[in-house]
Amino acid sequence: MNSMSNITITNHPLIQHKLSILRDKNTASKEFRALISEIAMLMCYEATRDLELKEVDVETPIATAHVKKLSGKKLAIIPILRAGLGMVDGMTALIPSARVGHIGLYRDPDTLQPVEYYCKLPHDIEERDVIVVDPMCATGGSAIDAIMMIKKRGPKNIKFVCTIAAPEGLKALQEAHPDVDIYCAAQDDCLNEHGYIVPGLGDAGDRIFGTK
Ligand code: PRP
Ligand code: URA
Repeated sequence: MNSMSNITITNHPLIQHKLSILRDKNTASKEFRALISEIAMLMCYEATRDLELKEVDVETPIATAHVKKLSGKKLAIIPILRAGLGMVDGMTALIPSARVGHIGLYRDPDTLQPVEYYCKLPHDIEERDVIVVDPMCATGGSAIDAIMMIKKRGPKNIKFVCTIAAPEGLKALQEAHPDVDIYCAAQDDCLNEHGYIVPGLGDAGDRIFGTK
C-alpha cells in the first residue's frame, strides 16, 4: 500500500495481478465481472483498515479470550451506475450488513460532463459511513458529482474506491473533495482525446455488461 495525502494506491500483488488480466482486451465479460468483483473485495479490505473495534470477552472451549470486534459502525456502499455495480458484490461479501444506495450518472460523450439519471440512497445515510465505488476515475467528474449528491444528505464520512484513475481525475477529485479518502489500484498515464484513461481498460460498463 502506498499513501500520498488522502490517496492510497492499493498495490497488493493479488490486486495488480488481477488488474493485469482485467486490462487485457481479450478478457471476456464473464471473467471481467468475476475479476472486478474480486478486486473490489481486496480493495474493501484495504479501505476498511480504520474501522473501529471494541473489546469484548468470548468464551472459547478452553478459556475466556479478550478479543476485538467491530464496534457496530453502520456502512453504506454506493455504486455509480452502471460500472460501479460490478464492485458491489465484492464489497458486500466482506460487509454483509452494509446498505446499498445507487447513483446513476453517465458521461456525455461530447462534453464529458456527468449527467444524473437516478439517485436512491439509504434513508438513514446521515448515520452511516459511505464507500462510493466506480471502477474508473477519468476526468473525475462522475465521482465529484456523485459525492456532491451524497454530501447533501450528510453522511458521517465518505471514501471513494476505484480500480484505475487518471492523474487528472485524482487531482480534480482531491481538489473538489479534500475530505474524501481515495483508494485506487493503479494511477495510469493520462486521458486520451475522448476522455478515456490511457492505457486503462477501455469502457468499464461495456466490458462488464457486454454492451459493445
Ligand atoms: C464511466 C465510469 C465512470 C465514468 C468516469 O461511466 O464508470 O462513472 O465513466 O469518467 P469521468 O471520471 O470522466 O466522469 P460511464 O459514464 O461510461 O457510464 P456507464 O458506467 O453507464 O458505462
Ligand atoms: N470511463 C470508462 O469506462 N473508461 C475510461 O477509460 C474512462 C471513462
